[in-house]
Amino acid sequence: MDYRRYHDDDLASVVDTFLAAFSGEPWNDRWPSREHLRTYLLEIVSMPTFRWYVVGDGNAVIGASLGHLRSWWEGTECLIDEFFVSPRFQGGGIGSALLDHVKRELKKEGVSALVLLTKRDCPAEQFYLRHGFEDDESLVFMSCRL
Ligand SMILES: CC(C)(COP(=O)(O)OP(=O)(O)OC[C@H]1O[C@@H](n2cnc3c(N)ncnc32)[C@H](O)[C@@H]1OP(=O)(O)O)[C@@H](O)C(=O)NCCC(=O)NCCS
Repeated sequence: MDYRRYHDDDLASVVDTFLAAFSGEPWNDRWPSREHLRTYLLEIVSMPTFRWYVVGDGNAVIGASLGHLRSWWEGTECLIDEFFVSPRFQGGGIGSALLDHVKRELKKEGVSALVLLTKRDCPAEQFYLRHGFEDDESLVFMSCRL
């Protein structure tokens, strides 16, 4: 297992693993096509401050942390847009090791916090709480259909 920065060559494998990780419970994402998901990922990787880390297993990517830096007033933070491990490997410590790797690498460049959104009362919430994240109950995620 190789914990490293993302390379452009990894994109197809990131798409495969993303689809596998979010197609089932509790997410049930329904991407209309691989191309659509590829477009979404290319949009976020084109941010100048993207910080993407992957877990490589030979040529395959079996886990990824897809984030970008933001110069927030309290210090530079990394917003994790997507974080996932291939279902075949979940529960085996890879997500924990990836998160530790990301924290170590970002700390080296002076990043002071990780922030992310996840679903309440689902296994991922427990995962993050166990890894030092705190739930900010003063915030609410809002959206407005157009
Ligand atoms: C959440 C996730 C990244 C954790 O990676 P992992 O390699 O499975 O995690 P680890 O083996 O290091 O840690 C295990 C913990 O993760 C959580 N976990 C295990 N399976 C999980 C699953 N299918 N979905 C979510 N969390 C899971 C549990 O809290 C588990 O703790 P436990 O072993 O005491 O029950 C991974 O399970 C995953 O990709 N899930 C689906 C996508 C997702 O929910 N991503 C986060 C969205 S923001």
